[in-house]
Amino acid sequence: MATGVKTEARTYQMMINGEQAASASGKTFDVLDPSTEEVIAQVPDANATDVERAVAAAKAAFESGPWGQTTAQDRGRVLFRLAERIRKEASKLAELESRNSGKPIVEAEFDINDVATCFEYYGGLATKVMGHVNPVPDNALSLSLREPVGVAGQIIPWNYPLLMAAWKLAPALAAGCTCVLKPAEQTPLTALEMANWFEEVGLPPGAVNIITGFGETAGAPLVQHPDVNKVAFTGSAAVGKMILKSAADTIKRVTLELGGKSPNIFFADADFEAAIDGALFGVFINQGEVCSAGSRILVERKIYPKFVDAMTEKAKRIRLGPPLERETKMGPLVSKEQYERVTSYQDLGKKEAKLAIGGGRAKAFKKGFYVEPTIFYDVDNRARIAREEIFGPVAAVIPFDNEPDALRIANDSPYGLAAAVWSRDIYKALRMVKALRAGVVWVNHMQPTYVEAPWGGYKQSGFGRELGPWGIEEYLETKQVHINLNEQPIGWY
Ligand code: NAI
Ligand code: MG
Repeated sequence: MATGVKTEARTYQMMINGEQAASASGKTFDVLDPSTEEVIAQVPDANATDVERAVAAAKAAFESGPWGQTTAQDRGRVLFRLAERIRKEASKLAELESRNSGKPIVEAEFDINDVATCFEYYGGLATKVMGHVNPVPDNALSLSLREPVGVAGQIIPWNYPLLMAAWKLAPALAAGCTCVLKPAEQTPLTALEMANWFEEVGLPPGAVNIITGFGETAGAPLVQHPDVNKVAFTGSAAVGKMILKSAADTIKRVTLELGGKSPNIFFADADFEAAIDGALFGVFINQGEVCSAGSRILVERKIYPKFVDAMTEKAKRIRLGPPLERETKMGPLVSKEQYERVTSYQDLGKKEAKLAIGGGRAKAFKKGFYVEPTIFYDVDNRARIAREEIFGPVAAVIPFDNEPDALRIANDSPYGLAAAVWSRDIYKALRMVKALRAGVVWVNHMQPTYVEAPWGGYKQSGFGRELGPWGIEEYLETKQVHINLNEQPIGWY
C-alpha cells in the first residue's frame, strides 16, 4: 500500500508496567501519514501474549501496587499534572495528531486542548466520589461505598485519537481503576507520546498500559481476558456487537459508543444563513469522520430547493489541503480502508439519489486519501446512504413536509447517538427535543461537546455515558455495607 520512506520513520514502543516494551513476537507494523501515504512510524504489533503482560501489570497495580493505594487527592493531582504536561506540549501533540490522522491542524489544536481539559475535569472529580447512608429500618448503619471496578480494557478509534484516550483514561484513573488502552492501529502515536510523561507526572507502573495492535489480534484478547473487569469501546457497531457477545463469557461491564446516522433537522423558520453553516459544519467537520456527524440533513420542503442550492454553493468553498496548513478545512481520510469505504458509498449514492456536489476522489491530490465533500439530495430515508454510517464527508439531504414528518424520518434509524433541530419557534424545537430518540440533542447548533455534559447513544448507538459525573459512574461499583448496632444475638434459633 505505502511506498514510504521507512528510513525516516520513528520506532515507538508500547507502555507496559511503566516500561517501554516491544511486542513479544518482535513484530511491528507501519503507521502512515494519510496525506502523503508515507510511513511515519513503526509500532509494536501486539498479540495475546502482550495483552497478557499488560493485563497482569494492570491487575497487580490495582490489587497490590501503588495506584490501588493512592488517595483520591493524589489521583487528582496526577491527573492535573498530566493535563499540565499536555498543555505544555500542546503544539507538538497537535502536529503529531494532525500528521497521523489527517485532521486539519487547527482542529487538532482544539482536540489537544480538550484532552487537557478532560484530565483536569476528572482530576477535580476524583475527590467528589461519595457514597451514601441508606435509611434502613433496623438499629444499624447501612452504607453504600463506591469502589473502582478494577482493570479497565479500553479500545478506541482513530477519528479523535488522543481525545478518545482521554475520555477513557481520565474517568477510569479518577475512579481508581487501572487501564489497558488499545489505540486504533491507524493512529497510536499521540497516546504513545503521552505515555512518556506518565512517570514524571506520578503515574506508577501498571496504572496505564498502552498496547498497539490490530482489533482481532490485540483488541479481541483484551475483551476476552478474565482479569479485565470492564471494557469501554468506541468504534463501529459491527465490532461493538462482537465485543458485547465476547464480554458475556466473563460477565464484563461494557460501555459502547458506536456512532450513528444523526439527523440535522432544519425547519423553514430557522435563521437561513446559520442553518446552511450548521448543516455543513455538522457533516463535514473532521472530514465527516465523526460519530455524531449530522449526515442526514432533513429540510422542510418550503425551503428545500433554496437550501440545497445554498449548501452546494458554500460547500464549493471548503478548502481541502495538507493537514498541517492552517488554512486547510478538510484533510484526507485516515486510511486507505476508509478511503475505499467512503468512495464506495459515493458510488452507491449516485445510484440511490441525486448528486449536488462532489462524489469521488479529490483529484487535485496525487497522493493521500482525499475525497471530495459530497452532497446527495432527494435521498429516501430508506436508502443505504441514509441508513448506514459512512464516516466521511458525505451528506444525505432529505426533504420533509411538517413537524410529525420530520420526527418520523429522524427517528426511523437503527441508531440514536445525536440529533439537532434548527428553528426559531421554541415550542416546536422543544417538542422535537422531547420526541427525538437520541442521546445528545442540539438546538440551533450541532457538534459542540463539553466534558461537563453526558455523551452516549440510544438504540444501536450503544449504551453507557461518557463525560461529566456519568463518565466516572461507569468505572465504579457499589458496595453495600451493613453495620449492626444492636449488641443482642440475632435470636432466631
Ligand atoms: P473498528 O470498530 O473496526 O475499530 C475501532 C477500534 O476497535 C480499533 O481500535 C480496532 O483495532 C478495534 N477492533 C476492531 N476489531 C476488533 C475486535 N474484533 N475486537 C476488539 N477490538 C477490535 O472501526 P474501523 O474498521 O476503523 O472503521 C469502520 C467503521 O466504523 C467506520 O467507517 C465508521 O462507520 C465506524 N467507526 C465509528 C467510530 C465512532 O466514533 N463511533 C469510530 C471509528 C469507526
Ligand atoms: Mg474494523
